[in-house]
Amino acid sequence: MEPLRVGLCGLGTVGRGVVELLARNADRIAHQAGRGIEVVRVASRTPRPAVDLGKAVFTTQIMDVVDDPSVDVVVETMGDVAASRRLFEGAVAARKHFVTANKALIATAGGELLPQAARAGVAVGFEAAVAGGIPIVKTLREGLAGNNVQWIAGIINGTSNFILTAMASEGRSFADALADAQARGYAEADPAFDVQGIDAAHKLTILAALAFDTPLDARVVYAEGVDRLTPEDIEYAHALGYRVKHLGIARRTSDGVELRVHPTLIPEERLLAKVDGVMNAVVVNSDAVGSSLYYGPGAGAQPTASAIVSDLIDLARGNAVEAPAPRGDVCCLPMSAVETAYYLRIPSVDQPGVLAKVAQILSVNAISIEAVIQREHAVRQDAGRAWVPVIILTHRVKEAAMDAAVSAIEALDEVIDRVTRIRVEPLDDHA
Ligand code: HSE
Repeated sequence: MEPLRVGLCGLGTVGRGVVELLARNADRIAHQAGRGIEVVRVASRTPRPAVDLGKAVFTTQIMDVVDDPSVDVVVETMGDVAASRRLFEGAVAARKHFVTANKALIATAGGELLPQAARAGVAVGFEAAVAGGIPIVKTLREGLAGNNVQWIAGIINGTSNFILTAMASEGRSFADALADAQARGYAEADPAFDVQGIDAAHKLTILAALAFDTPLDARVVYAEGVDRLTPEDIEYAHALGYRVKHLGIARRTSDGVELRVHPTLIPEERLLAKVDGVMNAVVVNSDAVGSSLYYGPGAGAQPTASAIVSDLIDLARGNAVEAPAPRGDVCCLPMSAVETAYYLRIPSVDQPGVLAKVAQILSVNAISIEAVIQREHAVRQDAGRAWVPVIILTHRVKEAAMDAAVSAIEALDEVIDRVTRIRVEPLDDHA
């Protein structure tokens, strides 16, 4: 059989990883695919880097790849959304399949682009767009295809997990841990994508589209990052038996689908609580299987190349890669309608009656208290006033009720600064 002929655009870390993996495992890949997979053309905007491209023709003109009639499939590893989109449009017009690691492209424009590809009779592979080397796209599309998924909860931004791990284990500040992540090359070019939850929101958009038929439109996901967390909150969470993880959560409810990315307190005994450093992990709770956990490296040259090559093998086998098909009757819930438990840190003047006032506000908003911590040794002096962080864990309540309660608490004279709130999730089989 003729080999599948690949045109590769982008020779950064991931692009080089694809070239190396296809060369190193060529026999195994050909056996799996039923035919060879050959890179016939490579484009990179920077001059030819030090990587063995075999017989592939090198060009600095990205669009040469789509113009090359010998190319069957365009692999995009450039990262830039606008350039990636132009390449996609060129590939589709030339009736070439398209494989990408670009989560921002799929999560922001996939709703428009994937139907275009389907109409042109070409496939779009994006296994590499979510959680790097973990085959979570195929898991949802194939392994769990006969299940109704109830919820997904994932650590899907390695940089945020690295930062949280450093803050928890070494008591480092957010800024210090971020600088370390950047020095190690983990963070995105714009670290705001990582630390404000945008990268995770893109990935959750894709997972939810596969599991719940929600739109490939990241604007429906609520996103909050790790950038406002303090080591103090992480310590209090530990004292209460929780770990703080940055999670992407998608959950089916009777009212609609929750789609949210934020720091979350989870019970310390959950497997997700033990996922540290840059590693990723996704729990999928589905009706036939229950909870299943997928763990592995979420980034890096070889893990991401592994995901791209798996899409190429699918194409070489002739496996249809169907685009997610959003259903108009699936409603994405606004954050105000989401129900969770909460951790609150309330900086309040250390005097009698404050806790009673806070409890009264929670009660008026029908919020039940699960635990309270106020430590004598945490009392601080500020401008002649003694104040102390009051920590409260609540039972589950709608976000709208908590918004009202937090506003009222912040309006108390005795509360000297903003209230910190972190959502709490049990992640048990019933949650
Ligand atoms: N910046 C991303 C992360 C890389 O930290 O997970 C992979 O998407």
